[in-house]
Amino acid sequence: MVNPDFLKIPEELLNDVHPLPIRNDFVSRQLSSDDLEKWDIGLTKHRQPVTFGDKVALAVVKSLRIPADLFFRKKYLHRAVALETVAAVPGMVGAVIRHLRSLRKMKHDGGWITHLLHEAENERMHLLTWMKVCQPTLLERMLVTAVQGVFFNCFFLFYLSTPRTAHRIVGYLEEEAVISYTGFLKEIDEGRIENKAAPQIAIDYWNLQKSATIRDVVLAVRADEALHRDTNHHFSDRISLKQEDLRTEVSHTKLLHMQEAASIARAGNS
Ligand SMILES: [Fe+2]
Ligand SMILES: [Fe+2]
Repeated sequence: MVNPDFLKIPEELLNDVHPLPIRNDFVSRQLSSDDLEKWDIGLTKHRQPVTFGDKVALAVVKSLRIPADLFFRKKYLHRAVALETVAAVPGMVGAVIRHLRSLRKMKHDGGWITHLLHEAENERMHLLTWMKVCQPTLLERMLVTAVQGVFFNCFFLFYLSTPRTAHRIVGYLEEEAVISYTGFLKEIDEGRIENKAAPQIAIDYWNLQKSATIRDVVLAVRADEALHRDTNHHFSDRISLKQEDLRTEVSHTKLLHMQEAASIARAGNS
C-alpha cells in the first residue's frame, strides 16, 4: 500500500516554472515595440580573429552557414526552428563538462555552469517559441535528429580538447544568428512573412506587451543572440588570459594586450 502522502505533488513543484530570461532588461520592465527597436545590441559587432584557433573557428562557422543557406534559403521560420535545436546544445555540453570537472577537482567552477545552463535554457525557449508559430516538416525533424547525434558528440570532444576555440565557435555562430534574425525582420517588414500576434509563451517569457507581434519576438530573440555572442567571445578570451574565475575582474593589462592584437589583426585585414 503506497503512503498517500507520496501521491501528492510536493508544493514546491507547483510553482509556475519558467526559466528566467537571459537578459535582465526583460525582467526589470516591460519593453515596448519601440524600446525593442531602439535597443543598441551591437548589431554589426564582429570579433576579429587573432589566433590560429580564432581563424579556424571563423572558417568552421562560415562553412557551416553555406549548407544552412542552401537548405533553408529565406524560410526563416523553419530555419529558426531547426537551428535553435542546435544552438541549445553547446551551453549544455559546456555545463556538463565543467560540472564534472568541478566534482572531480572538488573546486568551485568559477561561475560558468549557471551561465551555460541558462544559455541552453534560453535557446530552448527560442525553439519552443518558434514551434508555436511554425511546424517543422518530417524531413526537417529527421535532419534535426541526425544533426543532434553528430553535433553533440563532436562538440563534446571538441570542448574537452579546446574549450577556448569551442567558445569562439559559439561566438561566431551567434554573430551569424544575429545576421539571420535581421534577415527574418526584413522578410516581415517587406510583407513576405506575416506579422501575426506573438504566441503567449513569448509574451510570458520576455515579459512583452499583450499586443506584441512576431516582429517583437524576433527583436527579443535577436537581443538574446547578441548577448550569447558577447558572452562566448568573452569566455574564449577568459580562457586565453588564464583568468577563468568569473567572480574576479579580468586583469586590465592583459585585456589591453588582447584588444591591441585584435586591432592589429583588423588593420592587417583591411
Ligand atoms: Fe537562439
Ligand atoms: Fe544564441
